[in-house]
Amino acid sequence: MKEKIKASADYVQQQGIGPVSVGIILGTGLGNLVESVTILKEISYADIPHFPIPTIEFHQGKLIYGELSGKKVLLFQGRFHLYEGYDFFEITYPVRLLEALGGTTLFLSNAAGGINLSYKKGELMLLEDHINLQGGSPLALKNIASLGERFVDMSAPYHLELNNKAMAIAAEQGLPLHRGVYAAVVGPQLETRAEYRYLKIIGADAVGMSTVPEVIVANQLKIKTLAISIITDECDPDHLKPVDIPEIIAMAAKGEQHLIKIIKALLESF
Ligand code: HPA
Repeated sequence: MKEKIKASADYVQQQGIGPVSVGIILGTGLGNLVESVTILKEISYADIPHFPIPTIEFHQGKLIYGELSGKKVLLFQGRFHLYEGYDFFEITYPVRLLEALGGTTLFLSNAAGGINLSYKKGELMLLEDHINLQGGSPLALKNIASLGERFVDMSAPYHLELNNKAMAIAAEQGLPLHRGVYAAVVGPQLETRAEYRYLKIIGADAVGMSTVPEVIVANQLKIKTLAISIITDECDPDHLKPVDIPEIIAMAAKGEQHLIKIIKALLESF
């Protein structure tokens, strides 16, 4: 596995990517940050040796190297999910590649359902902690020792200083930013009313189908991590309406402008 990651990193470097310090993994439907990036190099995922093979839906999965807020960034446009049939190693491969290229900081975004009913559609939530309900771990591998520690500490999975900076930026710019707990499920089906009640009882503020595996691997690799959810639907079990995917996508776009402002300002603060 180590050799595969090295071969991927070597290829990417030969293509002119690097040095890298900050990686950004964009959630589905949250690709507009790319428009603010001065692109230095773009590589299709399909061209990177050993990189997970994108599904047809995902054919434009791309690694983008460029400058944003005066910093060199590596953007992963197109994310792999368990619900598409990838395994935990595949969905976290981008994080291992980031580390192999020298990355020390990771920003992630995702679309999530609001369990905390004080959150409204289109608002943002900074992840303060998470609950892994995906029934597995990206560290449960036979040869994990070649990749890092097995018993990774998760007492503070999201970098406190980065989170405090993000809160300060949001306050300064007048952008509402909640702080809460994200629960990760496999999906792709949405939750039942009983499941939404359960998620609330166990302490989740938002629910989604990504992010947690990447954050676990980032912690294994000592990468400083910050993640933000865009609340796309309000998951009120007592007034639950059938899921409206076009509305979820529209809400992601609504919150995205605020997310982009926060990410840009965070990069400037380094
Ligand atoms: N559940 C899980 N994932 C989601 C949801 C949800 O309600 N909304 C957006 N992503």
